[in-house]
Amino acid sequence: MQRLTPEQLRSHQWYGTEGLRSFSHRARTRQLGLSAEEHMGKPVVGILNTWSELNPCHIHLRERAQDVKRGVWQAGGYPVELPVMSLSETFQKPTTMLYRNLLAMETEELLRSHPIDAAVLMGGCDKTTPALIMGAISMDIPAIFVPCGPMIPGNHRGELLGSGSDMWRYWADKQAGLITEADMEDVLSGIARSPGHCMTMGTASTMTSVAEVLGMTLPGAAAIPAVASAHNRMAAASGRRAVEMAWEDLRPSAVLTAEAYADAVTTILALGGSTNAVIHLIAMARRSGVPLTLDDFDEASRRVPVLADLKPSGAYVMEHFHLAGGLPGLLSRIKDLLHPDRPTVGGRPMRETLAAAEVYDDKVIRRRDDPMSQEGGLAVLRGNLAPDGAVIKHVAAEPRLLKHTGPAVVFDGHADLVRRINDESLPITADSVLVLRGAGPHGGPGMPEHGMLPIPDRLLKMGVRDMVRISDARMSGTSYGACVLHVAPESHVGGPLALVRDGDPITLDVEARRLTLEVPEEELARRRAAWQPPKPAFRRGYGAMFDAHIMQADQGCDFDFLLGTGGAPEPGMG
Ligand code: FES
Ligand code: MG
Repeated sequence: MQRLTPEQLRSHQWYGTEGLRSFSHRARTRQLGLSAEEHMGKPVVGILNTWSELNPCHIHLRERAQDVKRGVWQAGGYPVELPVMSLSETFQKPTTMLYRNLLAMETEELLRSHPIDAAVLMGGCDKTTPALIMGAISMDIPAIFVPCGPMIPGNHRGELLGSGSDMWRYWADKQAGLITEADMEDVLSGIARSPGHCMTMGTASTMTSVAEVLGMTLPGAAAIPAVASAHNRMAAASGRRAVEMAWEDLRPSAVLTAEAYADAVTTILALGGSTNAVIHLIAMARRSGVPLTLDDFDEASRRVPVLADLKPSGAYVMEHFHLAGGLPGLLSRIKDLLHPDRPTVGGRPMRETLAAAEVYDDKVIRRRDDPMSQEGGLAVLRGNLAPDGAVIKHVAAEPRLLKHTGPAVVFDGHADLVRRINDESLPITADSVLVLRGAGPHGGPGMPEHGMLPIPDRLLKMGVRDMVRISDARMSGTSYGACVLHVAPESHVGGPLALVRDGDPITLDVEARRLTLEVPEEELARRRAAWQPPKPAFRRGYGAMFDAHIMQADQGCDFDFLLGTGGAPEPGMG
């Protein structure tokens, strides 16, 4: 393999050349307390850290960066830790999705404007994974992802709890009057018991698994619990690899091929992963110049079995998955569906990892002849209500609803939904189709996770736990139910969802992949002609830029001007 010389390192432009600028950079490195032999001629490894005291999922990353640094020093590199914005799924409003592209831009520009030869990307809470990787793709310098790791399993009086998933379930029970306030207090303390991202197969676990199967992490990294000693060791090993990757000039463009993305689609389905991964993976692929579409997910969904028995659709959580063999174990069971002769940041092709991989618990990672379900976990729907597509995670829905016609009950935005969902005068029955609009990329704004519309309390008390729900919103990866999501185009830009009225019959037919508003086209044309576009959500600032450039869900919700890679000049040293 070709290796760079010290003079060919990107950082050499900053530190090693003749002239005043380079002199000044060396002087300022002395100011940092480093002697020449500690950094001159060594690869500079930028550790991009999404640690924040308002992100409990990443609260251990401040210390974990020290393990990465240890690895970088050991391998003869020079580590520099750089704080980047955290995207805290829990606390950030209206939704972290509003800021995914901002973190991607920050990542790209931070790497571009500093003397950095290779990057270690530290993240894991939902949007942080795609954001960091999207920025690294566009900058295209060597980069390795260090997933923050899942929390340990939740616990409530001996019962296994999944973060997110079981909160929704207990909340529904509380609304139905089935459990006490004291029970809920106990759930509150037991549902998120350690640092780390949500330990169900929600968006975080799905996206860190995506990073791993794409080849952007060390093998097995995604499922290691945040507080396990193995996590410290993985962080140090990633630091060591980052130094080698700088010398090898192993860039994301060499790793993130069309085959890698195809394998990521397959993996998301075999995991029964989050619907949000559809949006993020399309956005990442388009950065890489790979034309991934919704149809690629639907096609794979018809042939990839769900093998992971993980909440929210299954029984276990990520620590069980880790101990059962983790992602390499799962991938070893679908080898025939993958392209394992691909490079990875680990320096070895995926095939070698899979040859050594084993499954230690068939209950958690099912055998091919005993899958959770024979078909994949996602379906892409089209029809006159979603001309550019919509997504449903049908393994997480009650089967009786997968072919269903019912009258629409329409809510205009989340505030309207919260205000009226329990209004006793609304003609809602278990057969109604709940419609939420004004919750897409522009309308939300930021496409919030409002897609699991709440079931009215009076129906909960009657034992109803699932209904057909349709929206242009997203849904938390820890949610479940017959929720049709990501309807495109969204209502805010005049998509057909804007034309639905209370009582209109809507048909969901998952088998046929259809979503139909049963209203004659002439009537829809009349409604379309009378439709008035709503006001934009922002008048200034980042929000105005978001509004001007955000693309629809079927295109990954990236900004139109961020597509692709490269094209920006290296900064001059002037
Ligand atoms: Fe951070 Fe779920 S809140 S991953
Ligand atoms: Mg989430």
